[in-house]
Amino acid sequence: KAKVAVLISGRGSNMVALADAAKAPDCPYEIVLVGSNDPAAPGLAAAARRGIPTWSLSHKGLKRAEFDMAVDAALRAAGAQWVALAGYMRLLSPDFVARWEGRMLNIHPSLLPRYKGLDTHARVLAAGDPVHGVSVHLVTAELDGGPVLARREIQVLPGDTPETLASRALVEEHILYPQVLAEMVRR
Ligand code: GAR
Repeated sequence: KAKVAVLISGRGSNMVALADAAKAPDCPYEIVLVGSNDPAAPGLAAAARRGIPTWSLSHKGLKRAEFDMAVDAALRAAGAQWVALAGYMRLLSPDFVARWEGRMLNIHPSLLPRYKGLDTHARVLAAGDPVHGVSVHLVTAELDGGPVLARREIQVLPGDTPETLASRALVEEHILYPQVLAEMVRR
């Protein structure tokens, strides 16, 4: 099975979706590490409860490149062949991206290439878009700008708030990410 490390910064619900899918005997990947830039990220405990090795290091006080090289060392020590960013709220240094380019995926809460960056749900509502969604893409040096691998749409409904949109988008994220990761490692 392909060895995947998941990087998170918070809740880790996408990490859990990836880990749950990995339990299927025919799943082509296994999660070898869950790493975080926040030692208090709730997702780390969720990973530990599932018996997945965890690693964390606070980015505070470290230069970006310095921090990223520590992450890279942890990924390699765990034998990771692929990296899945899942709510990892750190910009990546060019060196780190170059080391993992083509083998690092991200999930983003918009229909890329629309709404890169933060606060996507509020921005979709402010624009009055009737359709919204989620995307999985390969990570390149451009923030949320790498090749889109797959997307799932949701309808924007009357009365939607950023929170209601986020929770419906999350359902789609949890379906999409394990599918796309499995497809990628099978190639
Ligand atoms: C997800 O909605 C993910 O798409 C988003 O953060 C959330 C993390 O939730 N990612 C980004 O905004 C990346 N810029 P999770 O920790 O429960 O997976």
